[in-house]
Amino acid sequence: MASSSFLQMMMLIVFVTAFGTTKLGVVVDAQPSPPIARGLSLTFYNSNCPNLETIVRNRLRTVFNNDIAQAAGLLRLHFHDCFVQGCDGSVLLDGSASNPSEKSAPPNLSLKAEAFRIINDLRARVQNACGRIVSCSDITALAARDAVFLSGGPDYKIPLGRRDGLTFATRNATLRNLPPPTSNTSALIDSLATLNLTTIDLVALSGGHTIGISSSCVSFGRRLYPTRDPTMDQTFFRNLRLTCPANNTVNTTVLDIRTPNVFDNKYYVDLMNRQGLFTSDQDLYTDSRTRPIVTSYAINQSLFFERFVFSMIKMGQLSVLTGSQGEIRANCSARNPTTTSSYLSSVADDNEEQQFVEGESATF
Ligand code: HEM
Ligand SMILES: *[C@@H]1O[C@H](CO)[C@@H](O)[C@H](O)[C@H]1NC(C)=O
Ligand SMILES: *[C@@H]1O[C@H](CO)[C@@H](O)[C@H](O)[C@H]1NC(C)=O
Ligand SMILES: *[C@@H]1O[C@H](CO)[C@@H](O)[C@H](O)[C@H]1NC(C)=O
Ligand SMILES: *[C@@H]1O[C@H](CO)[C@@H](O)[C@H](O)[C@H]1NC(C)=O
Ligand SMILES: *[C@@H]1O[C@H](CO)[C@@H](O)[C@H](O)[C@H]1NC(C)=O
Ligand SMILES: *[C@@H]1O[C@H](CO)[C@@H](O)[C@H](O)[C@H]1NC(C)=O
Ligand SMILES: *[C@@H]1O[C@H](CO)[C@@H](O)[C@H](O)[C@H]1NC(C)=O
Ligand SMILES: *[C@@H]1O[C@H](CO)[C@@H](O)[C@H](O)[C@H]1NC(C)=O
Repeated sequence: MASSSFLQMMMLIVFVTAFGTTKLGVVVDAQPSPPIARGLSLTFYNSNCPNLETIVRNRLRTVFNNDIAQAAGLLRLHFHDCFVQGCDGSVLLDGSASNPSEKSAPPNLSLKAEAFRIINDLRARVQNACGRIVSCSDITALAARDAVFLSGGPDYKIPLGRRDGLTFATRNATLRNLPPPTSNTSALIDSLATLNLTTIDLVALSGGHTIGISSSCVSFGRRLYPTRDPTMDQTFFRNLRLTCPANNTVNTTVLDIRTPNVFDNKYYVDLMNRQGLFTSDQDLYTDSRTRPIVTSYAINQSLFFERFVFSMIKMGQLSVLTGSQGEIRANCSARNPTTTSSYLSSVADDNEEQQFVEGESATF
C-alpha cells in the first residue's frame, strides 16, 4: 500500500518534470481520449520492443537538432498515410502516388524525400534492437507524434500495433482523399466526413500547419493573381507577391509566419489576422461554423493542444490493419517478397552464391 502510493508519487514527479509547468494544462485533460481501435494497444510493444519509443525519440532529437524542418515533413507524412487508404504505411511504398520517387505525382502532393529516408533509418535502428517486430506504419505514427512534441507541442501516448499494407496508394485514390489547398470549409467538412472526422477534428488537425512550408506558389497562386483574395491581409499579400512574382512561381513559403518552426497555437492567430496561406486555412476563419473554434484555439493554446491530441489519435487509427492482416515490412519502401517460396528461393540463391564463392576460393 505504502509502496504503491510511493510509486504513484514518483510517477507524478516524473510526469510534472517531463511536461514542465507551462504544459500542465494539457495534462489536466477533461476531454476523453478517442476509443482505441480493436487490435491496437497503448502497450503493444512493451514486452517485445520495450525501447522502441526511446530509440525513435532519441534519434529524432538528433535529426531535428540538425534540421528542424524535418519535423514538419514527418508530421505531414503520417497525415498522408492515414488519409489515403488508412494508416497502413502505403504512402511509404515506392510507386505510391504520394511518394516523391513517383515522377507523375503532382507537385502539390510532394512530400519531403528526406522524411522517407528518416523513416527507413528509424526502421533499421528499431530492427537492430528488436528484430522485425515493429511496422513501418507504427514508426511513421511515432515519428509524427515526436515531431509535434520536439517542436514544442504536447506529448501524448498513441495506440500501436498497426500492420503494413500490401498495396500502394494509386494516384486517383490519393487525389480523391487529400483535399486540395484551394478547398473552402464546406468542401473540407465534406471530405473529412467521409473519414468520419468532424468539423472540430478539421479545425484542430489543420493546426498541423503551425509548422512547415509550402514548396510552390501554385497552392495559393489564385489568392494573389490576378487580384488579391479579399480575405487576405494587405501587407501579407504584398510580401507574398514578392515571394511569388507569378501565380506558378516555385518558391518556398512558411505556413505560420509568426513561429514557423514551433508547434504552438500561432497558426490560429495568423488566421484571425487574415494571414493564413491557403484558402483551406483562411476559410476556417471566414466560415461562421468554424470561426468560433479558430478563435477558441487562438486564445487558449492548452485547449488547442488537447483537441489536437484527440484528433491525431483518431486520425492515427483510420482503417488500420491489425492482427494477421498485412505484414511487417523489412523495408518500408517495398513489400516483403510475395510468397514464402519466393522468399526462401531468394535466400537459397544467396546461399548458393555464398557456397560458390567459398568453393572458388577453396581451389586457390
Ligand atoms: C485539411 C486539409 C489540408 C490541406 C488542404 C493541406 C494542404 C497542404 C499543402 C498544399 C501543403 C504544402 C505542401 C508543399 O508545397 O510542399 C501542406 C503542408 C503541410 N501540411 Fe497540410 N494540408 C491539410 C491538412 C493537414 C493535416 C491534417 C496535417 C497534420 C496534422 C498537415 C500537416 C502539414 C505540414 C506539417 C505541412 C508542411 C510540410 C513540410 O514542411 O514539408 N496538413 N499542407
Ligand atoms: C482515375 O480517375 C479519372 C478521373 O476521375 C478516371 O478517368 C480514370 O479512369 C481513373 N483511373 C483509374 C485507374 O481508376
Ligand atoms: C493538385 O493539382 C492538380 C492540378 O495540377 C489538381 O487537379 C488537384 O486537385 C490538386 N490536388 C491536391 C491534393 O492539391
Ligand atoms: C465551396 O466550394 C465548392 C466547390 O468545391 C462550391 O461549389 C461552393 O459554392 C463553395 N462554397 C462557398 C460557401 O463558397
Ligand atoms: C466510418 O464509420 C462507419 C460507421 O461506423 C464505418 O462503417 C466506416 O468504416 C468508417 N470509415 C472509416 C474510414 O473509418
Ligand atoms: C496563372 O498562370 C498561368 C500560367 O502562367 C496562366 O495560364 C493562368 O491564367 C494564371 N492564372 C491566374 C488566375 O492568373
Ligand atoms: C523567393 O522568395 C524570396 C523571398 O520572398 C524572394 O526574395 C525571391 O526573389 C523569390 N524567388 C523567386 C524565384 O521568385
Ligand atoms: C483553456 O483550455 C483548458 C483545456 O480545455 C481549460 O482547462 C482552461 O480552463 C482554458 N482556459 C481558459 C482561460 O479558458
Ligand atoms: C528498399 O526498397 C527500395 C524499393 O524497392 C529499394 O530501392 C531499396 O534499395 C531497398 N533498401 C534496402 C536497404 O534494401
